[in-house]
Amino acid sequence: EAELYTVYKGIYVPAHLHTPQSLKYFEEFSFRPDDILITTYPKSGTTWMQEIVPLIMSGGDPASVESLCNWDRVPWLEETRASELNLEDRPSPRLLTTHFHYSMMPPSFFEAKPRVIYVMRNPKDVFTSAFHYYGMASHLVNPGHQSEFLQKFLNGKGVYGSWFDHLKSWLNAEHKEHIMYISYEELKMDLKDSVARISQFLEKSLDAEVIDKIADRCLFKNMKQNNMSNYSTVPREFMDQTKSEFLRKGIIGDWKNQLTVAEAEHFDAVYKDKMKNVKYKFVWD
Ligand code: PPS
Repeated sequence: EAELYTVYKGIYVPAHLHTPQSLKYFEEFSFRPDDILITTYPKSGTTWMQEIVPLIMSGGDPASVESLCNWDRVPWLEETRASELNLEDRPSPRLLTTHFHYSMMPPSFFEAKPRVIYVMRNPKDVFTSAFHYYGMASHLVNPGHQSEFLQKFLNGKGVYGSWFDHLKSWLNAEHKEHIMYISYEELKMDLKDSVARISQFLEKSLDAEVIDKIADRCLFKNMKQNNMSNYSTVPREFMDQTKSEFLRKGIIGDWKNQLTVAEAEHFDAVYKDKMKNVKYKFVWD
């Protein structure tokens, strides 16, 4: 941990992706009211939403998802590359991404109140996806034994801190009328309906055929073929997709293949305790 991570506002972040300059850029970032921000705890559906939202905003025109990598299309604000993209000069509505907690947002966020799409996923599946990802990405500490990684996950010792804290921070956000909460599971169970709901939230009216076309493009098997979204342009020394693909399985409930019965029970007990004051009705409960 000591070598690969930096502690930023009490949580681990990969040092390679977040330099002091990039974190300063984030802190000083000037949000506009018409920005659209995708917010996620990692492995919850970020890349999926980075495909869906640009297609909605372009009225189904695939030009941007075919020509721009997802991190240029919907830049990750706190990552080093963001400061090189001249986001100040991009026309509105700008599409942006963050993995940070609500309390970590810069002052301009609270003034401008941009629209936020918060994507959440069953934490057991987030854990499972992360376990494979930590094993293939060079900016992350090797997960080691599964039980060890599970302890770290439940104690918020992975990158971007605790899943529980992240979720609770965004669920307790002010000005919820600017936030759409949607789960990975809803996307998976009814992608067309999800695309329609997201486009309504973004006040972009689309014909049924366009919604169908967008949903079809965003199916796991089709997105996997898109080299601008499957991370295939990242050199193998940074992401070794022969170990685990970035678009790995794309299913609900893979935790059942990953966790032992005892581990799942332990997970549930911790979940119950940490979520006891949360009123939100989750799809996975
Ligand atoms: S990251 O690193 O935070 O940007 O990762 P993120 O994109 O949030 O999460 C990656 C997981 O999302 C799955 N994914 C999809 N599932 C279904 N359909 C589509 N279109 C899709 N796109 C991405 C991806 O496969 C990762 O989940 P796992 O469970 O590992 O397969």
